[in-house]
Amino acid sequence: MGEFAQTAEPVRSAGVIASVQHALGWLVAGNALGVMIAILLLLPQLNPWLGEWTYGRWMMVHVNTALFGWCSVPMLALLFKAYGAHRGSLSTWCRPVVWLWSASLLVGSYSWLQGHSSGKLFLDWSGYARVFFPLALFVLWILLVLAFLKNRNAQRGSRAALIARLAGLLVLLPVPFVLYMVSSPNLYAAVNPETGGPTGASQLESTLGVVLILLAVPFGIARRLSGLRSIAVVAWSVFLLESALTVSLGRGDVGHHAPSQYLSLASVLVWIALVPAYYHCFEWNVATRRWRRAFLAWWVGLVVTGWIMFLAGVLDRVKFTDALVGHSLLAVAGFLSAYVIFVLVQILGEHDAWILNRTWSFYAWNLGVLAYVVVIMYAGWIEGADPAFTIAPGTPRNVLYILRLLTGISMLAGSAEWFIASLSLNSAVSPATNNVPRVEAA
Ligand code: HEM
Repeated sequence: MGEFAQTAEPVRSAGVIASVQHALGWLVAGNALGVMIAILLLLPQLNPWLGEWTYGRWMMVHVNTALFGWCSVPMLALLFKAYGAHRGSLSTWCRPVVWLWSASLLVGSYSWLQGHSSGKLFLDWSGYARVFFPLALFVLWILLVLAFLKNRNAQRGSRAALIARLAGLLVLLPVPFVLYMVSSPNLYAAVNPETGGPTGASQLESTLGVVLILLAVPFGIARRLSGLRSIAVVAWSVFLLESALTVSLGRGDVGHHAPSQYLSLASVLVWIALVPAYYHCFEWNVATRRWRRAFLAWWVGLVVTGWIMFLAGVLDRVKFTDALVGHSLLAVAGFLSAYVIFVLVQILGEHDAWILNRTWSFYAWNLGVLAYVVVIMYAGWIEGADPAFTIAPGTPRNVLYILRLLTGISMLAGSAEWFIASLSLNSAVSPATNNVPRVEAA
């Protein structure tokens, strides 16, 4: 992807720093809300103190700030870097774009607290918030287009890199409009009639969406190594084959007992080996090592448990129990968060990596998430056989929920340290050691 994309060169620019600080700010806010709703589940008698803004409304804010704040804002830093928007005259626009994104999420949070929602988990946008957030995405897109036009001749790199950046813009263009459309309560994806959840085909489709991101991101932030070609050919071929498989499976409502569903979903297991092999073919700065290992370990856990949870017998028991909360946590707080931090460490470079690389917060976070997942999956497994376990709480359930609260406090503490450290980043100061990054393969 050209000069900006192929180097492991670290960046310190106002836009990148704003993305890092906003992302971590959202992480801390989301975690604090997580701790609050975990307390509310233990002490529901506190709800009246909150007036109309009770558990159900804060829950929406918690989930959406985690997803559209913490997990999404770092991608702005990545896009600024990949398109070169973080440099030159356009760089002054990066920070306002980050602020616009955060402002639209604040507007969304207020609307959810006021009781407005599409009713669709992770797509709760409704009313004015449903317009404002896609608008922020569109403004980001315009900035990227301007950066592309401005830098297209200045950037080194092959013709293929230029085409890749152009393709990226074409892929991103429909996102705001699609987000607006799919937030409609009248639009629903295929349903597994045996559980009311998604079908195996749609699970495969969304996993492939994640895989596509995993395959594309390194081109935006790391230098390719010579051995990439053969692994890349295999990875992209498997990706295309699996995409063809999802198309052939169709979008009808199908149950999870159908072999076509659980066998096709099993095809994602191949990525357990392919993703690490693929990441081995890029040059990463040495500070990324710890988070690279973490995200790859979470990836294995996610893919394996995700497939097992879809199997007949297992899904019948755990669907819509706490086990699903555990799976969501594994996916977003475990895998996606580790990946996002890995990307940020690569973008920030060795000099600034310390803000995300302290040993105690690394373990406070990862062990906190792991313990959360284990505790809540266990609670979900019991709930699957005895729904009264959660509906009419007794001591065993409360003990598990207290343990979950403690894991949440551990996560909050780790993230607070990262956020506070990030406030010391200052774009006016040029990192001295950044010019010669030490790099290594995965
Ligand atoms: C990056 C950090 C986090 C992410 C991405 C995240 C994500 C999520 C998601 C996706 C859900 C919805 C699960 C579902 O209904 O399938 C959820 C629910 C929840 N989260 Fe978090 N969370 C995070 C941190 C925390 C923390 C630190 C706590 C504190 C204990 C916490 C407590 C909760 C609680 C209590 C629920 C509601 C569970 C229920 O409905 O029974 N979360 N979170």
